[in-house]
Amino acid sequence: MADSVTIRVDGREIRAGSDTTVAVALINAGVWTFRTSVTGEPRGPVCGMGVCFECRVAIDGVEHVRACMEPVRDGMEIDTGG
Ligand code: FES
Repeated sequence: MADSVTIRVDGREIRAGSDTTVAVALINAGVWTFRTSVTGEPRGPVCGMGVCFECRVAIDGVEHVRACMEPVRDGMEIDTGG
């Protein structure tokens, strides 16, 4: 994959296109649960444009980052709680 980056998702290393968002990188890697609701339900992207906040993940220790709005960066550490 040309122009790609390496990110870690819940400790798993994956490659992603350098021009994509965290949400797309996760979905391309088969990750559809981005977080778990307070009642224990799996949650994932709904709108894909920063409105619903369902795609929140922790990135490099910062909680509640909207994955659909965040470009991937090489070495990024993403935690879905999974
Ligand atoms: S998918 Fe709705 S805010 Fe990210």
